[in-house]
Amino acid sequence: MTRHRPSPPDPFGYEYFDDPRGEGYRGYHRTATGEGAPQQWLAARDFCRDHDIRTAVDVGCAKGFLIAELLAAGVDAVGYDVSPYALSFTTGLPCHRADLRDGLPRSAEAVFVLGVLLYLTEAELPAVLADLRAHTTRFLLVSGYYAGEDQEVPDPLRRITRPYRWWRDALADSGFTFEHQGEFFDVHSV
Ligand SMILES: C[S@@+](CC[C@H](N)C(=O)[O-])C[C@H]1O[C@@H](n2cnc3c(N)ncnc32)[C@H](O)[C@@H]1O
Repeated sequence: MTRHRPSPPDPFGYEYFDDPRGEGYRGYHRTATGEGAPQQWLAARDFCRDHDIRTAVDVGCAKGFLIAELLAAGVDAVGYDVSPYALSFTTGLPCHRADLRDGLPRSAEAVFVLGVLLYLTEAELPAVLADLRAHTTRFLLVSGYYAGEDQEVPDPLRRITRPYRWWRDALADSGFTFEHQGEFFDVHSV
């Protein structure tokens, strides 16, 4: 991180994650006992196991649930997120404040960007994808909301509303090779 931005109020705060009356992201929770981990984190863990992934970065790690899952599976995993609110839940985990737009601080065999790229502007996307390409040594795992698909809650922070094929083309243009469409995330290789 070499560039610095002024610190605006955290848009990805309580209202976005946890306010029952809010209009942000929903479905990101874990039971008090840590049981019932959403299937997407288990799928990510299994992907790492099946591909002998030793290092991973989770961009937009939020409260660190995926990072905890990957660490438990023996993956050297680090998370980054812009949200101080979300990161306040990551005590004891290697989750740090960083803005994707400033470049990733570290490279990894597997870089997860789950539900994150849609918060960029279209103008910001090419540079961010080029940086992700530079920091991914094997796989980029991507998910998002795609125009034309159902979304259960409105998301006023979302900036890119494009169909699935548009995202596939943007990733291909940035040097990623599409491998397959998974239930929880797409797999791209470098
Ligand atoms: C929809 S949540 C996804 C959380 C998690 N990856 C998942 O799939 O459950 C989006 C996350 O991306 C983070 N985020 C948004 N813009 C970001 C940016 N420019 N750099 C880093 N993180 C960002 C938000 O703070 C939020 O935690």
